[in-house]
Amino acid sequence: MKTTTLSLMLFAGTALAALPAQAAGSLNLICSADVVICEQMTGDFQKETGIKVNMVRLSSGETYAKIRAEARNPKTDLWWGGTGDPHLQAASDGLTLEYKSPMLDQLQDWAKKQAEGSGYRTVGIYAGALGWGYNTEIFSKKGLKEPKCWADLLDASLKGEIQMANPNSSGTAYTALASLVQIMGEDQAFDYLKKLNGNIAQYTKSGSAPVKAAARGEAGLGIVFMHDAVSQTAEGFPVKAIAPCEGTGYEIGSMSIVRGAKNLDSAKAWYDWALKPEVQSRMKDAKSFQLPSNKSAEVPKEAPRFEDIKLIDYDFATFGDAEKRKSLLERWDREVGASAN
Ligand code: F6P
Repeated sequence: MKTTTLSLMLFAGTALAALPAQAAGSLNLICSADVVICEQMTGDFQKETGIKVNMVRLSSGETYAKIRAEARNPKTDLWWGGTGDPHLQAASDGLTLEYKSPMLDQLQDWAKKQAEGSGYRTVGIYAGALGWGYNTEIFSKKGLKEPKCWADLLDASLKGEIQMANPNSSGTAYTALASLVQIMGEDQAFDYLKKLNGNIAQYTKSGSAPVKAAARGEAGLGIVFMHDAVSQTAEGFPVKAIAPCEGTGYEIGSMSIVRGAKNLDSAKAWYDWALKPEVQSRMKDAKSFQLPSNKSAEVPKEAPRFEDIKLIDYDFATFGDAEKRKSLLERWDREVGASAN
């Protein structure tokens, strides 16, 4: 045999061996975490499995609305990331599929509870506490005091300095609304939000946009998950993350398979893969500093630790309920959104 033929055969053999073991397919994925981690996960999964992923990034509330609208003819197979409340709401609406991953035993209790509470229609993939991030340079230039408590955000000196997301589209902002209701009681929370509205420059669509704006000097402060503030600090921006002194809520970022998914095997492959410790440990490479749900995954050193934050006992059953969501959002639209700039 000529050497060229032999080397061709050897090359073909190596190329075949490099192909993923699984039969390739495709997966329609909505990712509700930060776009950088969405792209990293998508790329890694495609490389490891050969399954082609069509990914779009949408905020948590937007995804919930899309999955509801497409219930009769789902175009999405899997929803990865985003706050747990809308995943629970989708579960209670019967929009997502029951699935017990063989990886469940490896997860933290909070992630398993999320699965149990939804009849295994969703599962926890990461967790993170709500707070804010402010631009230390802007604050010191303008002589503003560091806001340590929710109450401090109402100070008149912060007029026009604050951004937060719209709770209709953003899971972060819905977590903020639900947390304030749990901390203060509903009427007082709306009273607070109406006053806060006077200091808000803009309600954004995505949850992390406010602190990205603060990092770039377009705002003084963004009400966001603390890990999103920390990732701006890690990017080199003068951003400081704060855990509110009165206490705060948190998210159990979740993942669900859509009922009627056209690519069910691919959806299950992603589901099991995304719960692996090595996959979750790589999230920090995209500056995603949430707490991972797999007990063996590495907790990034930058991740704000729950032990250091005054957390409320967030009532996921109540605030993950579809009716509760509807009534809180309608009230927010009426009393706050309607008078927003
Ligand atoms: O940026 C990451 C993140 O904060 C996740 O931890 C969270 O689940 C998601 O974004 C929420 O995004 P949104 O508020 O846009 O729904």
